[in-house]
Amino acid sequence: MFMEQLRLGPGANFAYVFGAAEGGEGFVVDPGAEPDRLLACVKAHRLDLTRIILTHHHFDHVAAAASVKARTGAKILAHPASRPGLQGEVTLDGTLADGEGFAFGDQEVRVIHTPGHTPGGICLLVAQRWLVTGDTLFIGNCGRTDLPGGDARALYDSLQRLKRLPDALLVLPGHDYGEVPSRSLGEEKARNPTLRAASFEEFQAIP
Ligand SMILES: [Fe+2]
Repeated sequence: MFMEQLRLGPGANFAYVFGAAEGGEGFVVDPGAEPDRLLACVKAHRLDLTRIILTHHHFDHVAAAASVKARTGAKILAHPASRPGLQGEVTLDGTLADGEGFAFGDQEVRVIHTPGHTPGGICLLVAQRWLVTGDTLFIGNCGRTDLPGGDARALYDSLQRLKRLPDALLVLPGHDYGEVPSRSLGEEKARNPTLRAASFEEFQAIP
């Protein structure tokens, strides 16, 4: 199993391509821009793309989803609470609620509902190895809560859930906002102020 991190578009977005094996099944997370580059990656690995997973409904994470779907036949999936916010030609073919998942190769992908940045935000636990965090958790920071549907208390609670996951997971964020593109969850627990906060009050006081 392998993963490719692609930095796309003007907003330093990260999309991810996962493959069960070269020439095997694949899925993409957050196709926010540059569908040609995403599809070139899919083609280079000869993947049969079956799923397009959206960590949340924001435009910069979904804008290339319809194009990737039209050119691969992959199904667009997100948390049901992301459906109302989707705009344009992006519509869901199915939903992924908390605790749901699917078998992928000889591994598993599991959904963790992490509202706060948006009501339908999810993280993906992939193969007990990677944690795709969307705009819930960045390297060194967390997502903003001042956009429509944002909720600081919900985001704090979501981050507490992520803190209980194994340190060895590699955090794969939705934007390249940190000093490195990815880092272990253990390092984030030690260094990221939004995870280090010992209470909601402390979390809220972070500038
Ligand atoms: Fe976002």
